[in-house]
Amino acid sequence: MRVLVAGGAGYIGSHTVLSLVADGHEVVIADDFSNAKPTVLPRLEELAGTTLTSHRIDLTDRVATDRLFATERLDAVIHFAGLKAVGESAEKPLAYYDTNLSSTFSLLAAMRAHDVRRFVFSSSATVYGDSAPVPYHEDYRPLDASSPYGSTKVMIERVLSDVAHAEGFRVALLRYFNPVGAHESGTIGEDPQGIPNNLMPFIAQVAVGRRERLTVFGADYPTLDGTCRRDYIHVADLADGHVAALDHLDQMSAPVRAFNLGSGEPSSVLEMIAAFERASGRQIPYDVGPRRAGDLAEFWGDPARAATELGWRTSRSIDDMCADTWRWQSANPHGYPDA
Ligand code: UFG
Repeated sequence: MRVLVAGGAGYIGSHTVLSLVADGHEVVIADDFSNAKPTVLPRLEELAGTTLTSHRIDLTDRVATDRLFATERLDAVIHFAGLKAVGESAEKPLAYYDTNLSSTFSLLAAMRAHDVRRFVFSSSATVYGDSAPVPYHEDYRPLDASSPYGSTKVMIERVLSDVAHAEGFRVALLRYFNPVGAHESGTIGEDPQGIPNNLMPFIAQVAVGRRERLTVFGADYPTLDGTCRRDYIHVADLADGHVAALDHLDQMSAPVRAFNLGSGEPSSVLEMIAAFERASGRQIPYDVGPRRAGDLAEFWGDPARAATELGWRTSRSIDDMCADTWRWQSANPHGYPDA
C-alpha cells in the first residue's frame, strides 16, 4: 500500500516508516516539524535504503491537506500527528483539542474526498481512565481520561468509530502503553525538546550527563517496591504493530476495532533504573520526590486480542529497550542536529 504517515518524522512515526518499508509498503511522510527535526529524514532514508517522499504540512490546514491528497495517490493513513504532553495539555487545553481534533477532521475530509478509507490511529492506554481493572481490556467501558490530552484520544476514537460505521472506513484504534527504546542502529530515537516529561528519556539524559539526577515521583504506592508500574513497549515492536494492524484492516471483524499494544508485563520505576544501569554501565543517581499529580499506581494491558487477530506480540525485552535507548542517547547526546 501507499501509506500517508501523518507525523512521520516524530518518535513513533519515524520507527513505523521503517517497519512499513521493510514490509514492502511505500510511504509518504507528512509533518509540520513542530516536534521533530528534518535531520531525521536522511537518517531514515539511509536505514530504509531508499528515498522517501516527505511534505512539510500543517494538517490542521484543510486546504493544504486536501491538496496533499490530490497530488499523492494514497491507500491508507496512519495518524501520529498531534500534541502529546499530558502536563502541558492541562495548561493549554484549547491547543490540544484544536490541534488533535482539527488534524483528524481534515485528514478524514480529505480521505473521503479522495476515496481513501483505511485509517490507523495512535491512541493511548490513557482512554481506560482512572478506575479500569488491570489488565486493561479493549472492551472496557466507559472510556474516560483525566487530562485534556487523554480526552482528545477518547473523542477521536468516538469520531472514528462513527465515521467508520457510517462512511465505509476501516479503522484500527491502537492503544499504546509506554513506548520506549530506539532503533537498534542507534541513529534514530526519541528526542524530546526541553525537560523530558517521561521516565525513559529522563533516565537516558541523566546517564549521558545532560541532567544531574532523576526524581522518582513517589515511592509510597501500593506496589511491590512502592514505585509505579507501567507496561513498557519497545518502539520497534510498536512500529511493527502498526504494520500488522494496517495489513489486517480489510479483514477486521468490524469496521472499527481497538487493539492494546503492550507487552502485558509491568515494570516499576526502580526496575527500569536498574535495567538502564546494567545496559549503560552508568549509575543513575536519583532522589525520591512526591507523587506526580494524576499518576496511577500501576497499569498494563491484556495483549491477547492483538496476538489472536493481528498475529502480533512484543519480542523485545526491557534489557533491549534500555540497550537501544543507550545506543541512541550515547551516540546522539543532544538528539538530532538542527541542520
Ligand atoms: N517518572 C518518574 N520520574 C520522571 C518521569 C516519570 O518517577 O522524571 C515515573 C512516573 O511517575 C510514572 C512512570 O515514571 O510512574 C512512567 O511515567 P511516564 O511519564 O514515562 O509515563 P506515563 O505512564 O505517565 O505516561 C504514559 C504516556 C502518556 C499516557 C499515559 C497514560 O506517556 O501518553 O501513559 O496512559 F497518557
